[in-house]
Order: sequence, then structure tokens, then C-alpha cells
Amino acid sequence: MLTITDPSDMRVWSNRAASTGRTIGFVPTMGALHEGHLALIAEAAERCDAVVVSIFVNPLQFNETTDFDSYPRPIDDDIAVCSAAGVSAVYAPTARAMYPEGFQTRVVPGALADRMEGPGRPGHFEGVVTVVAKLFGAVRPDAAIFGQKDFQQLAIVTAMAADLDMGIEIVGHPIVREPDGLAMSSRNVRLTPTQRSAAVCVPRSLDAAISAAGHVDATAGSVTGAAAQVIAAEPLARLEYSTVFDADTLEEFNSDDSLRQSGADRVLRIATAVWFDDVRLIDNRPLAE
Ligand code: PAF
Repeated sequence: MLTITDPSDMRVWSNRAASTGRTIGFVPTMGALHEGHLALIAEAAERCDAVVVSIFVNPLQFNETTDFDSYPRPIDDDIAVCSAAGVSAVYAPTARAMYPEGFQTRVVPGALADRMEGPGRPGHFEGVVTVVAKLFGAVRPDAAIFGQKDFQQLAIVTAMAADLDMGIEIVGHPIVREPDGLAMSSRNVRLTPTQRSAAVCVPRSLDAAISAAGHVDATAGSVTGAAAQVIAAEPLARLEYSTVFDADTLEEFNSDDSLRQSGADRVLRIATAVWFDDVRLIDNRPLAE
């Protein structure tokens, strides 16, 4: 397995792979790889001949420097994990290679970025699509696999790839969960053991929301209210938001909107963000499974 750190070397590698007729499946990551990433790598390997994993903690998408600074960076372990998983190349560019002096161009996402996570994280999605566009430019994949845990990110990247005629298939992979239901995330390692036990309230709040959505007179408010009750019962957790939204448009429902009258062909999901001290966890699930 090769480790490549320079964008032009990455392009040379990809062009060579393409010239021998091999398709490239791409898994963009910020490292601290876990079972969830391995599932994305497996999906890429099923779809394509060669798999490239990028590892880059992208400063453009962080709102807090402390979050950026404390983001885990176990690069040697990550490279070993990729090698054991049969990855063909790891692309781990330096910040200087990605954003050299004079770097000034940004990709601006559309309205999908103004909802849900958007208002609370100004510039976050612009940072995400800018780095993803750059990674796509270097790796030149046929398909790129993203986890559904960052559901809004997946929707925004899908729109970017279509709008900018990138010719890359964007694939959403289902959330991979710990045995107790907590969604796998690189941020989970930052939880203390007590916070980690408490964090089970996040998937449980989604269970409660899904049960509430089964009632005939369910509204968006009754569903998010059921989720909020579970979080409120956990003293170590602080709810930032829970919201019911349309999976295609990301349009959020108002509290008194009835779920039954929302239209039979709409797929609804609930998403939530919950803090444990300075660690922010997100999760989402379809309301009907
Ligand atoms: O989901 C992530 O890990 C990041 O947002 C991504 C897509 C690698 C861009 O930095």
C-alpha cells in the first residue's frame, strides 16, 4: 500500500490506475479510523477495483480551534488499519500541500447548507465541500463513499457532485453502531468512560422518537419532545437540537406539523446533536424503518 502526501503525486497515481482500466473507490476521512470507516472501505472495494482512503483533518470545516486541535490524529495506526483492510493507497496530504500560501478559492454550497447543522456552524459546509472538491480533484474517483451519520454532509456533497458535473457516484452508507446503539464516530474516543456510558441516551432518544412517530396523531413536536425527554433525563448530556426533516430536501418540520399529513411518499428522518461537556455527537435515523 502506498502513502501519498502530495496532490500531484496522487493525480499521477490515479491517472495510472485509470489508464490500466481500474476504477477507483474513494473514502474521504479525517482519520481516527474505526469500524464505521472499515464498512465504507468494504463498500468501496465491492464497487471498485482500487480503494483510496484520504486522511486529512481539514481546518476549513472546524468552527472551534479547540475542536480542531483536540481532534484525534493516530496517523500510524490509521495507515496500519488501511493496509490491513486492503486499501491500495492512503492519501494523507499536509495542510501546506492542501492550502499553500495564496490559496483563495472556495466552493459555496447551496440552500441545503442553510438548514439543520448550518446556522449553528457558520462556514462548516463551505469548508467541507471545498476540501471534498480538492480531494476529488487529486484522487479522481469513480465512486466516493460517505457515512449517513453526517446525513446533511452526504446530501450537500451529492448536490455538489451533480451540480458541478463531477461524474463521481456519491454513495451513502448506513450508520455503523456500537453494540449499545451509539453511532460510531472518531469523536467517541474523546468521551470519558462515564460520558461514554451516558452517551447511550443519544440512540435511545431516537428510539423514543420513532415510537412516538407511530402514534396516529404524531406531530414533529411530539416526536422531538419524546427524544428531548430521554436526553433531559441524562445529567451529563445537553441537547443542542432534535429535528424532523424530509430526507430528500432536508426541509425541517415545524413543531405542530402532522406527520400523517406530510405525504405518503416522503421519507422522514429525525436528527439530533447532543453535547457531553465539549464533545458534540450527532445521530439520525429514518422515522419509519
Ligand atoms: O466526514 C468527514 O470525515 C469529513 O467531513 C470529510 C468528508 C472527510 C471532509 O473533511
